[in-house]
Amino acid sequence: MAYENIRLEKDGPLAILTVDRPKALNALNSATFHEMDDAIRSLKFDETRALIVTGGGDKAFVAGADIAEMVTITAAQAREFSALGHHVFQSLENLPIPTIAAVNGFALGGGLELALGCDLIYASEKAKLGLPEVTLGVIPGFGGTQRLTRLVGRARAKELLFTADRIDAARAKEMGLVLDVVPADKLMEHCRAVAAKILKNGPLAVAQAKRVVEYGADQDLRSANELERQGFAVLFGSEDQREGMAAFLAKRPAAFQGK
Ligand code: HXC
Repeated sequence: MAYENIRLEKDGPLAILTVDRPKALNALNSATFHEMDDAIRSLKFDETRALIVTGGGDKAFVAGADIAEMVTITAAQAREFSALGHHVFQSLENLPIPTIAAVNGFALGGGLELALGCDLIYASEKAKLGLPEVTLGVIPGFGGTQRLTRLVGRARAKELLFTADRIDAARAKEMGLVLDVVPADKLMEHCRAVAAKILKNGPLAVAQAKRVVEYGADQDLRSANELERQGFAVLFGSEDQREGMAAFLAKRPAAFQGK
């Protein structure tokens, strides 16, 4: 599939997905979602071990769902559009590789929801984040009400949802929404450095860590801990576990194969 609204680049084991409609501040329309879905499905996890998601141009990560596309849709079409966005962000969450949002500018509405679908969020100093949907007479529809609440708690989530405040990156970091804030020209370097650190580790173990955190987050502690025990045990069927431990004992770096 040829992409018109996104770019998917590969740099060794790292893939970079750029939402690239800078004239519309990278707003997410249905075509963009279909391309993102295709790009995510195309990833082969024996080659690609980490994914960075960012926005094209120098102004926006993603300024939201495409308002021009939504302005006249019916409730049934809105439900379909919401389901499409949920599907794409859920598939990011389900990927067996870590995903990193490089928030390089406005991350508003659906844009913040995209970042929230990633495992780690880093922002440039000039990023502005928020959920302005109520100013348009709607609410977030791609999981933002739920993912934000789980990340920053109900009160802060409600504050952002009700006021539609556009917060800067430093404030977003204070509330635990963004992990680190870096100068704009260092953002990709920072995200690549985090990815490089992760890429040195056992890929099956990283995938398992992501899986048990994600599935465990929705469960009671006892069930979640059982998930961890299963995930831990499963890794003892892997060559990576033998290699990782043997390498430690032999005082050499491990050469993980993801097997
Ligand atoms: C469509 C958008 C857009 C959007 C910006 N543009 N955001 N088009 N959908 N979400 C377009 C503008 O119309 C304009 O097009 C061009 O991008 C540049 O934007 P400007 O407004 O001229 O830039 P600026 O003055 O710098 O303001 C930047 C901004 C503002 C503060 C980010 O664009 C803005 O408030 N955008 C909307 C943010 C928003 O409300 N997002 C939530 C959407 S609802 P032209 O053709 O005039 O140059 C949502 C719901 C998700 O996300 C759930 C759905 C199920």
